[in-house]
Amino acid sequence: MHLTELPSWKALWSHFTHARDWHMRQLFEADPQRARTFWLEHCGLRLDYSKNRITTQTMTLLLQLAREAGVAEGIAAMFAGERINTTEHRAALHVALRNRSDQPMRIDGEDVMPKVRSVLERMAAFASRVRSGQWLGYTHQPITDVVNIGIGGSDLGSLMVCQALRAHAHPRLDMHFVSSVDSAQLKETLRRVHAETTLFIIESKTFTTQETLTNAHTARDWFLRRAQEPQAVARHFVAVSTNLKAVSDFGIDPSNMFEFWDWVGGRFSLWSAIGLPIMLSIGEHNFLELLEGAHAMDLHFRDAPLERNLPVVLALLGIWYINFFGAGSHVIAPYDQFLHRLPAYIQQLDMESNGKRVTREGRPVDYETAPIIWGDSGINGQHAFFQLLHQGTHISPIDFIGSLDSRGSLPGHHEILLANMFAQAEAFLRGRDAAEARAELAVQGLAPAEVERLQAFKVFDGNRPSNTLLLDRLDPRHLGALIALYEHKIFVQGLVWGLNSFDQWGVELGKQLAQAILGELRDELPPAARDASTTRLIELYRRQRTQPC
Ligand code: F6P
Repeated sequence: MHLTELPSWKALWSHFTHARDWHMRQLFEADPQRARTFWLEHCGLRLDYSKNRITTQTMTLLLQLAREAGVAEGIAAMFAGERINTTEHRAALHVALRNRSDQPMRIDGEDVMPKVRSVLERMAAFASRVRSGQWLGYTHQPITDVVNIGIGGSDLGSLMVCQALRAHAHPRLDMHFVSSVDSAQLKETLRRVHAETTLFIIESKTFTTQETLTNAHTARDWFLRRAQEPQAVARHFVAVSTNLKAVSDFGIDPSNMFEFWDWVGGRFSLWSAIGLPIMLSIGEHNFLELLEGAHAMDLHFRDAPLERNLPVVLALLGIWYINFFGAGSHVIAPYDQFLHRLPAYIQQLDMESNGKRVTREGRPVDYETAPIIWGDSGINGQHAFFQLLHQGTHISPIDFIGSLDSRGSLPGHHEILLANMFAQAEAFLRGRDAAEARAELAVQGLAPAEVERLQAFKVFDGNRPSNTLLLDRLDPRHLGALIALYEHKIFVQGLVWGLNSFDQWGVELGKQLAQAILGELRDELPPAARDASTTRLIELYRRQRTQPC
């Protein structure tokens, strides 16, 4: 049945007519158990979701929505290796990459686990040789720098995890990530490394991505100018891809290629050979811990009842705000400097998965889908964009993410960090009403007229929803669980909205147009008929190339 026809959807709308007027201050006053009721723990992750505009009745209706929308069946289909990516006729079986049990995982009857394990073993053997210093460059020196060349899912996951787990990084290996085709990034990186001791990893699922291949060719030319011998490439370039032919056409020996498969979506690929930079940085043991954490979350997601299922609950809360309150964005605010790339990572995960306007059947939706995901380090955000979150006109639910463990922190710092995180969530919940604002101003000794004039600016509505996610500690296992939590949350939202969360056709048009425009910028193609604005921009560039300003 169509989403908006479901009984639970209609019941939620009628429930919403009351819920929109609730203030969370009253909800907390009315129910002293609230912080216990809306609390879940699993895999060393604690979720406090009590600071949401919900009651137990709201959750009952949302869970009914999940049942009626077929969430349980969708989860089962994913784990069964069904081709749930219907536009590309592919399974979405990234859970097999971190299946640490001895159970098979099948696609069309074939157990994919032997090949998953075999690639993991190859990665581990290679990583061990590089890390131990056995793998030598063309001048017989150990590798000191790893440059990953890739973009989107072939960049963000490894980059985010390597930064998050910097405390576990190999002391000799400096990790660099080049994604942009703006040569400034590659130039800057090459300035900092030496050809003799640098390993380049070219990561691309398709091995056709313009930005990655351009950077890869430039890096190889740079390397050959220094090494002077083509055989040296084999000691310094490896590839990760699903496209063996394109990799060997590029000139990388297939024995230096680490494979993955079409049933691994780019944005879900850090668990595959795409995670090679991660394994090089943190080692096999820690990489396996990352997989273990994700696997624990997978089992929880597959087996826990919907009402105690962390990804399902997070997904339903999101739906409550997006579809009923009209919240168009969602903020990720990590209170951990090492997690500062997490918002960017989740941005791709969510917006590329559910930024869709038609259902799996190809019918336009008549409800909102993915929100705009944004965010940054929470402590920095407090002094920048939080103003809008507190007093602006938009409601953006926020995920506060922090860890309980202060080991590794300088004395006193971790408490200040957590105090701020808890305080912000409290402020978003309670706000400050006019009476409180007046009282605060009066204490400062201001004249009554001035108190009255200023109080309007000092009022915070509060009632702004947030989730608090606390990790026992930021280590490979907890990070693995955290990432898998978001992957599954997004999948559940896609199921409720009836979307295919595993394709990304929306990125194609710009790529095709860029090819045509490139031909014109390089005078290889005649001007095409197009809008006056784009034509003018192309002409401007071509003119300035001959007559620089
Ligand atoms: O353009 C979007 C996209 O296809 C992403 O989905 C993907 O993660 C990224 O580009 C990189 O693609 P590839 O790994 O094939 O180079």
